Amino acid sequence: MKLEALPVSKGNYNLNSYEEVYQSFDWKEAEKEFSWSETGRMNAAYEAIDKHAESFRKNKIALYYRDPDRDEKYTFKEMKDLTNKAGNVLKNYANVEKGDRVFVFMPRTPELYFTILGAIKLGAIVGPLFEAFMEGAVRDRLDDSGAKVIVTTPELMDRVPFDQLPNLRHVVVVGENVKEDDFYIDFLSRFKESSKDLELEWVDLTDGLLLHYTSGSTGKPKGVLHVHNAMIQHYQTANWVLDLKEDDVYWCTADPGWVTGTVYGIFGPWLHGASNVIVGGRFKPENWYQTIEDYGVTVWYSAPTAFRMLMGAGDELVKSFDLSSLRHVLSVGEPLNPEVVRWGVKVFEKRIHDTWWMTETGAQIICNYPCMEIKPGSMGKPIPGVEAAIVDDQGNEVPPYRMGNLAIKKGWPSMMYTIWNNKEKYESYFMPGDWYVSGDSAYMDDEGYFWFQGRIDDVIMTSGERVGPFEVESKLVEHPAIAEAGVIGKPDPVRGEIIKAFIALRDGYEPSEELKEEIRQFVKKGLAAHAAPREIDFKDKLPKTRSGKIMRRVLKAWELDLPTGDLSTMED
Ligand code: WT7
Repeated sequence: MKLEALPVSKGNYNLNSYEEVYQSFDWKEAEKEFSWSETGRMNAAYEAIDKHAESFRKNKIALYYRDPDRDEKYTFKEMKDLTNKAGNVLKNYANVEKGDRVFVFMPRTPELYFTILGAIKLGAIVGPLFEAFMEGAVRDRLDDSGAKVIVTTPELMDRVPFDQLPNLRHVVVVGENVKEDDFYIDFLSRFKESSKDLELEWVDLTDGLLLHYTSGSTGKPKGVLHVHNAMIQHYQTANWVLDLKEDDVYWCTADPGWVTGTVYGIFGPWLHGASNVIVGGRFKPENWYQTIEDYGVTVWYSAPTAFRMLMGAGDELVKSFDLSSLRHVLSVGEPLNPEVVRWGVKVFEKRIHDTWWMTETGAQIICNYPCMEIKPGSMGKPIPGVEAAIVDDQGNEVPPYRMGNLAIKKGWPSMMYTIWNNKEKYESYFMPGDWYVSGDSAYMDDEGYFWFQGRIDDVIMTSGERVGPFEVESKLVEHPAIAEAGVIGKPDPVRGEIIKAFIALRDGYEPSEELKEEIRQFVKKGLAAHAAPREIDFKDKLPKTRSGKIMRRVLKAWELDLPTGDLSTMED
């Protein structure tokens, strides 16, 4: 069924003529806005905070923060002082220096943001971790990156296996009554007494900024390194795509453990000097609507899984709040169902603008713009300054409506700089013709709109989080009852996909509901709650290639009642 396109909303936007700007835009022009075009040196935290603290925006609210226990706000001037203080704690007590990897592993509180920006001011590379990570996940990331410092809370610090991390020098603990020694540092006490003056480290464009670990279909999670130069694209997309203006109150619902929560939870808004809303605590539909009403949120960036949950909470609930402040709504992370787009129009009287990008792309790439018709189900068109295409496996562009690899011409400003410690992996992303290959399959229609079709690899997207099947399988086979495990994503109306595990038991173990629950808990405790399989099927044997690789494709075909395809490589 062909859906009707949603017409352009009336208004004056930062990007008013997509085609025209797409034809003429040059990144060199955009760089002129920033000091580095003259000095050659920069610091993304300076551009996000200090610059505004020294301008007419100094008393403007930079951060509105709220969780069930706290309700705070900070001006740009205060943010400058507080991020300097956090920088001083890291510098003077944890000896953080330029290039050091500093991990943050804590809930979304103002201290998390002070710490991230304070570390960046020192020229350190920040590695954000999800609060949900358990010991194994924390160890893999700190170990791979050779992290020197981790900033965490008393509740989470037991999950940092410091005895297995020879490079780790300090654990900075954000909590009350922290016992200090050479290794542990009491953040809050040191923060209180630290100076609000800090000498900022001016870095090169290609010095490290963020290290986000993300999953692929094989191997351990890989560290995607982004550098300070990426900032130019954070800035430019926040202008064109988020359409941020001086009076906006902006809310991005993502956690900084995810690249959306750093790039568009920190840099996008603050590079523009926008007022940024950050909400801690758990998801609750009524709290979300209340947030929009209380702060008068104008620009709202969230994810399909959240919109689907809000949709599930019912239209009546929407009506009991005043959401009239909303001007612009956006989504990222997984396919945005046309049904959700239409629901948005009905209840918010706003189009939800889908945006496509990845941890590796470092910023938005394919988007729907306020000045453009939206075709529900389409991810939109590439941002000016970026060339995207659908290519075959040899790197040749294919005609409209033909499915293929969604690819991007190498060299956009926020493209990952490298994969940490893994040049080979980094190189494996590229194809002849200088194409970066995303791992997504898609097609382009005859008007240049891109349509997502699926992942080419076996990566699972569950509630917007990217989970590598291999990581889950590896954890599963550590369980004493499990001989073999194969993990797939199974389509789910709310979560996009859920994790389903097929398991062959070792001799002497019998399938049971208790065992399923035990296995779920085992993955939860060892890896992360979101990585635990919601469904488990026990099998006598799993389909494998002759070389012993579990054939997830076959598992998926079994599950979804699809043809299994070519089985010539399957063992007897
Ligand atoms: C994968 C990247 C950077 C934040 C997003 C998550 C899927 C992302 C969309 C969209 C369909 C999407 C892709 C992509 N994805 N946005 N608008 N429509 N799929 O980043 O964790 O690196 O995951 O998310 O499969 O490859 P990530």
